[in-house]
Amino acid sequence: MIKLVFYFLLGIFHCQAILQENPPPTPRSFPACVLLTNGGSRVYCYGGSLQRNQDGPSGPSNEVDILDLSIFNSPTIPALTWKKSTFAYANAGVALASINNDSALFLYGGNQQWPKNNTGYIVSTTDNSIMASLTAANPMDSSLTPFIHESRVVTLQNGTIWMFGGQLINYNLRTATSSVFLFDPVSQVLTNLTVPTPGGNTRFGHTATLSKDGTKIYVIGGFIFPPETDVQFQQNNTQLTDIWVYDVPSSQWSTVQANSNQTTPPAMRTFHTTNRRNHC
Ligand SMILES: *[C@@H]1O[C@H](CO)[C@@H](O)[C@H](O)[C@H]1NC(C)=O
Ligand SMILES: *[C@@H]1O[C@H](CO)[C@@H](O)[C@H](O)[C@H]1NC(C)=O
Ligand SMILES: *[C@@H]1O[C@H](CO)[C@@H](O)[C@H](O)[C@H]1NC(C)=O
Ligand SMILES: *[C@@H]1O[C@H](CO)[C@@H](O)[C@H](O)[C@H]1NC(C)=O
Ligand SMILES: *[C@@H]1O[C@H](CO)[C@@H](O)[C@H](O)[C@H]1NC(C)=O
Ligand SMILES: *[C@@H]1O[C@H](CO)[C@@H](O)[C@H](O)[C@H]1NC(C)=O
Repeated sequence: MIKLVFYFLLGIFHCQAILQENPPPTPRSFPACVLLTNGGSRVYCYGGSLQRNQDGPSGPSNEVDILDLSIFNSPTIPALTWKKSTFAYANAGVALASINNDSALFLYGGNQQWPKNNTGYIVSTTDNSIMASLTAANPMDSSLTPFIHESRVVTLQNGTIWMFGGQLINYNLRTATSSVFLFDPVSQVLTNLTVPTPGGNTRFGHTATLSKDGTKIYVIGGFIFPPETDVQFQQNNTQLTDIWVYDVPSSQWSTVQANSNQTTPPAMRTFHTTNRRNHC
């Protein structure tokens, strides 16, 4: 029924090992990357952690790497056309999505340098400058509330941003959220939708992919946790075929078992990536 192809970030970085780049991106974990197609295909990657422990002094990075995909069709390209830039703040595991027809990006949460908070930004895709800060319209923004890390975002067909899951980190307490948030780029208001997830659970380290017709979001892989409880890193979502489906028009969750012709369904995974094939 659903045919989804899994690509791993490793794929991109594997290419880097083969091809020369100019300039090479600094190796990082938990960068946030988004594909923009309007005005030429290009990938924007924001931040990421320079060390395994993201909280350390050299943890989050403010590096922005932009990859121009327009010459990618040629098998003889001499170099990956990376452009390097910087953002005003260092961040790892930020939620990143395109808004306003690829003219701007929505950045939210993530493991920021101290003070950690849920600041959101609207950033220009032309020069990475901050067009707006979202603290005023932010339901989670307070030094007392945990910040959201590795939440997954999707740009809906009408331009609204949908955001789900991830960790809520409040110093040493790590919990998870089952809330779905909608961000309206016109009013710049972020709304907490309280819609029940399957089993009341949440996901962290998952993916979220919009169907071609824009009506369904498929949440695949990742850790499953009861909401608002201390998170341990067990992989207890045992099979990759256990998919959660969010119906955009009705804001309702359901579950689906993806078809697989394997006798042993593919094992679960976390921190993977998922892409839609053209016809799905
Ligand atoms: C987005 O930009 C493209 C190309 O510039 C244009 O054709 C399209 O109408 C724009 N869409 C919206 C919703 O403004
Ligand atoms: C949140 O963090 C940003 C920098 O990442 C900082 O400019 C802002 O003052 C912080 N807000 C609060 C309420 O601490
Ligand atoms: C969203 O709202 C619900 C209901 O008020 C609340 O329980 C939940 O904590 C909120 N989510 C976040 C991340 O603040
Ligand atoms: C997944 O593991 C967490 C941590 O051990 C546990 O609290 C939770 O109940 C488990 N969830 C499921 C769906 O098994
Ligand atoms: C866009 O779609 C979302 C999800 O259906 C909806 O909540 C929102 O009101 C829509 N926004 C506009 C401007 O139509
Ligand atoms: C499963 O389907 C794929 C695609 O049709 C095919 O390439 C593969 O051989 C099949 N595997 C088995 C075990 O039947």
